[in-house]
Amino acid sequence: MEIIHTISALQLLLTPLQKTKSKIALVPTMGALHKGHLSLIEIAQHQADIVVCSIFVNPTQFTDPKDLEKYPRPLEHDIKMLSDAGCDVVFMPSVKEMYPTFPNPENWHIDLGSAEFLLEGEFRKGHYQGVTQIVKKLFDAVHPDIAFFGQKDFQQVLMIKNMVKYFNMPVEIVSCPIIREDDGLAMSSRNIHLSETDRKNALVLSKALQYVKDNFKQLSLVQLLDGAKTMMNETEGVELDYFTIADGETLLPIENKTAKYPVALVAAKVGQTRLIDNMLLN
Ligand code: PAJ
Repeated sequence: MEIIHTISALQLLLTPLQKTKSKIALVPTMGALHKGHLSLIEIAQHQADIVVCSIFVNPTQFTDPKDLEKYPRPLEHDIKMLSDAGCDVVFMPSVKEMYPTFPNPENWHIDLGSAEFLLEGEFRKGHYQGVTQIVKKLFDAVHPDIAFFGQKDFQQVLMIKNMVKYFNMPVEIVSCPIIREDDGLAMSSRNIHLSETDRKNALVLSKALQYVKDNFKQLSLVQLLDGAKTMMNETEGVELDYFTIADGETLLPIENKTAKYPVALVAAKVGQTRLIDNMLLN
């Protein structure tokens, strides 16, 4: 496995492969890897010749500087996991490599559609501008044919698809299933911040989503939302940011169950840790 820190070294490695028409996949991450990330690598391996995984804790997508500071960075462990998984290339640039004017901000603003300002966009102002800014830079560095993202960050995949449309970029975006712990908790790099009690309380996110999925046909939307929100609100140490049943393309709440692509999405603070999760309902 090649470990690469600069865009020029990356291009030196990838350009000859691209000339021979090797299919290049990119799996962007911020490290602190778990089985959810590895599932993306595995899916990518089935669909491409060369898999590049990037590890970069992107400062421009953090709205809270404390969150950026405490983001876990177990680099050696991450490299071992990727090497064991048979990943071909790890790209681990410095902040200066990706943002040459850092700490002075770059001008970046693109139209991601009205869904940018809903849900996560409401609670983390500017977050998706930061996400698309770095994903664009990673796409420009790697020139992948195909890139893999987790459905875990449902709105992120939508925003990245909108960014790709905006620039008319020749890259296919694939959304991969959410990997969960045996008890249902969606895997996340943030789960290590959960205390033992938080860890138990955090189960209510996937339980409330599963309740909506299991009862989607039988109950009304009002009953489903009432039931799910009551579960959330009755769990001590859990502070709900939102629970919604939305259209997967607009993220607006659905008004009836004939919507083509219904999805339930939740975000809540469990102890000091903010978690998100979602479930497709069809
Ligand atoms: P990060 O949180 O490290 O996640 C990297 C990728 O792993 C994302 O596409 C995310 O959706 C996916 N992922 C996380 N948990 C998952 C799970 N339990 N099952 C399946 N996939 C999962 O998302 C980011 O980094 C950043 O915003 C990034 C796109 C790298 C831009 O900085």
